[in-house]
Amino acid sequence: MMEKKEIIYNGESVKVFGTGSPDHVLVCFTDNITAFNKIKRAVIADKGKLNAAISTMIFNLLEKGGIKTHFIRQVSATEQLCRRVEDIPIEVIVRNVVAGSMAARLGLEEGLRPSSTIYDLCYKNDDLCDPVINDYHAIALGIVTREELDVIYGMTERINAILLPLFRSVGIDLVDFKIEFGRLPGGEIILADEINPDSARFWDAETGEKYDKDRFRRDMGKVGDAYRTIYGKLVSLCHPDGIPEGYPSAELLSDGWTRNIQDND
Ligand code: CDP
Repeated sequence: MMEKKEIIYNGESVKVFGTGSPDHVLVCFTDNITAFNKIKRAVIADKGKLNAAISTMIFNLLEKGGIKTHFIRQVSATEQLCRRVEDIPIEVIVRNVVAGSMAARLGLEEGLRPSSTIYDLCYKNDDLCDPVINDYHAIALGIVTREELDVIYGMTERINAILLPLFRSVGIDLVDFKIEFGRLPGGEIILADEINPDSARFWDAETGEKYDKDRFRRDMGKVGDAYRTIYGKLVSLCHPDGIPEGYPSAELLSDGWTRNIQDND
């Protein structure tokens, strides 16, 4: 068991703890889900386990594709050991398909496919509801240098180029996703945020069915099943011979799997 020390980040779906080592943190995934700046909240049974496994598999796929990430290894069903970084308070949003706040802001139809990928920057600040900014704001306000931003955009483009065809190969449209970066002590920039159905939109490529947090935001039901679907797709990509030890078990994936509903199924 990894030592859990002081709390560094007390988020709703993720909590980050010190480990006693200055170079490492423990990232812990919870079953809590929130939306609309935490006004709407619920508990989704097993979401923490599913997101931890989803995030681990995506980090492994990205590392194989040459992306440096903070991920070291999964240490329990809901916990990952990660490298400690200095957070860069910017969220980078990648949009392959128009959805959510962008559709609302610009009066566009959800599902519209832009002619090229769209990147948004948001300033990470809960009190301000993470406002959209642009490169000029980020540089002028001293959040990143131009050179760092070029590295961030380059890595982001590569991450999308790795994930888009992988998800498509299992029938999933990667509509959009949010990522964050951090600096290692020497200044190197690495990916420092997990990708999972809390922070990305996944649509069935055939039917358009949603397998992400929009099911919770929009009261569509079967929230846990959506996370389970993405987990199952990634298992089939990453572990075609079966579910590895320590991962959410097979019965979690079987059709009709239900349990005491804390989920709004
Ligand atoms: O989710 P919402 O419609 O409010 O915002 P968006 O700008 O359309 O979000 C684009 C993508 O980034 C979605 O997959 C969101 O789940 C994700 N996102 C996030 O994870 N955290 C945020 N603070 C904002 C967006």
